[in-house]
Amino acid sequence: MSQPTHRSTPSQAPSSASSSPEGEVHALIDSARQRPAQDPIFAIHGEAKRRAALGEDVIDASLGTLMDEEGRLAVMPTVVRALGQVDPSKAAAYAPIAGEATFNRAVIEDVFGPAGLAEASDCVATAGGTGAVHHAVLNMLDRGESLLTTDYHWAPYRTIADQSERGVRTFRMFNAERRFDLEALERSLHETAAVQKRVLLILNFPCHNPTGYSLNEREWAEVNRILRSLDKRLPVSVLLDLAYAKYGAPGTDAWTRFVGELAGDMPVLAAWSASKAFAQYGARVGGLAVAMHDEAERKRIAAAFAYSCRATWSNCNHLGMLAVTQLLTDGGLRAGVEQDRAALLAMLDERVQKFNDAAAAQNLQYPRYEGGFFVTVFTTDPQETARRCQAEGLFIVPIQGAVRVALCATPQNQVERLVGILARGVAGLQGVPA
Ligand SMILES: Cc1ncc(COP(=O)(O)O)c(C=O)c1O
Repeated sequence: MSQPTHRSTPSQAPSSASSSPEGEVHALIDSARQRPAQDPIFAIHGEAKRRAALGEDVIDASLGTLMDEEGRLAVMPTVVRALGQVDPSKAAAYAPIAGEATFNRAVIEDVFGPAGLAEASDCVATAGGTGAVHHAVLNMLDRGESLLTTDYHWAPYRTIADQSERGVRTFRMFNAERRFDLEALERSLHETAAVQKRVLLILNFPCHNPTGYSLNEREWAEVNRILRSLDKRLPVSVLLDLAYAKYGAPGTDAWTRFVGELAGDMPVLAAWSASKAFAQYGARVGGLAVAMHDEAERKRIAAAFAYSCRATWSNCNHLGMLAVTQLLTDGGLRAGVEQDRAALLAMLDERVQKFNDAAAAQNLQYPRYEGGFFVTVFTTDPQETARRCQAEGLFIVPIQGAVRVALCATPQNQVERLVGILARGVAGLQGVPA
């Protein structure tokens, strides 16, 4: 059976339970009456800020934004320049509903160009990667059907599914060797296909949130083999959530070598986001691209996505879209932003190396971690581990079976202290959850 366990980060955990005693009717509908008012991750971050304001030397490894070594939000100077160069009269106008054609083309080139699939792809602009996931869930699943993803996953998958009356099925992400559980993936694909008409598989690699795991070439090849061996009559689509793709270690983009074959069998969707790639979380620039050799079906899918744009945000942030288009297509700006990003990657890589060295010395249990914003350390009592860590000034996020550590927000000179606190936090609680 697919693992029913919910191992996502706890942000915006949905609840659709009705609170109304029988017969009582409110203006606010029953399924919306128990929504959590505060995001748990921002609550942890708020507590870290409160303690810091009191003069305590805290490490706030809770939020998924890249901070520099001085603890300030890391920005890319070339991105700021590109934003400043946008013609204000263009930025002030509505963007086309499906996005600027040049933007959509640029995203396609960025995502599917390396796979040689640019001519077999379409794209719509979305409000960040979140918007892309939303449109994929809404259009590739019917009400009552469930998306399929790893048991550790980004919590808003569940929020989006819940809000749109879809569900979430999960499969065990790690086998006993702490490697991606390919057998569980294969099994759960068959199980899902047996209980609903279609399958939407969401994979968030490279640099999976919350675990930091990236599939290597062999694992991507196996995922490709498993998907291609499914009954061709079964309507399956795959959504690659590429939120952290630009932060992957060399080789973790091996999916580009297999996606050409896959797109012959099924729609391959990509949730593209400028939030992390261009360190512009607030710009809300993203795209949902679809690669598929069947052009008529692909155009139908893209039209459905454009319809969803109109039905949600109507059109996206034009200023951000125009600036990002320039950053992707203008040779000088592109080179500049790649240089800016390389500097941030080098900064993050040093933290990752330090973490791996210190964590190995302390015998922490965590999955393969080669880069990216987060890592997850296994513990049999995540709440207790988080409590112990907070008592020592380290703020991390408890999730089921583990704690999520945002190295993206941890200056390099704090990493050793962080690992020391974590080691005490998991003392006596080490263990990979079943
Ligand atoms: C796994 C994952 N997917 C998608 C996103 C979407 O981010 P945004 O909507 O800011 O592009 C995030 C952001 O944290 C994420 O962690």
